[in-house]
Amino acid sequence: MEKSLVLIKPDAMQRGLAGEIVTRLERKGLKIIAMKMLQMDKSLAQRHYAIHKGKAFFDRLVDFITSSPTIAIVFQGKDAVGVIRRTMGETDPVKAQAGTIRGDFGLDIEHNLVHGSDSAENASKEIELFFSTEEIIDYHKDINKWIG
Ligand code: RTP
Ligand code: MG
Repeated sequence: MEKSLVLIKPDAMQRGLAGEIVTRLERKGLKIIAMKMLQMDKSLAQRHYAIHKGKAFFDRLVDFITSSPTIAIVFQGKDAVGVIRRTMGETDPVKAQAGTIRGDFGLDIEHNLVHGSDSAENASKEIELFFSTEEIIDYHKDINKWIG
């Protein structure tokens, strides 16, 4: 089963949308196998978004993601990376389809509420940045026989 790292970003925390976002992903059938609230520091933000270093928005992105606490979650499930990306919607909330998290709750590309890993390979790297192996709990859920 695939894993993906989700971050409830500072704007979603400030707006009280953490529960809504977790609910959408949980109801889809994905299993939470790790979760914590943390205040990201600049070093963690720069490592998490290292691929964007040098881009015009990079400093603003680091400032934003460190501006308030975030909730980091590891979800596990069938095609978790792709399923989460489609549930989040496009990066720019103005273009994201209605029915997606960004499409329903956002208007600004730099305040787009949620992060989800963009590949299984990057998911592994991101999960390692946020969680120790002991913090990831791969428990059994009986209901999964009804979900797949
Ligand atoms: P994320 O990594 O946060 O899940 O978002 P994403 O994959 O949909 O988008 P990505 O291309 O990885 O960009 C990372 C974050 O940088 C901000 N951004 N701003 N001003 C801009 O043109 C711009 N482009 C990207 C967004 O907040 C995006 O989520
Ligand atoms: Mg990304």
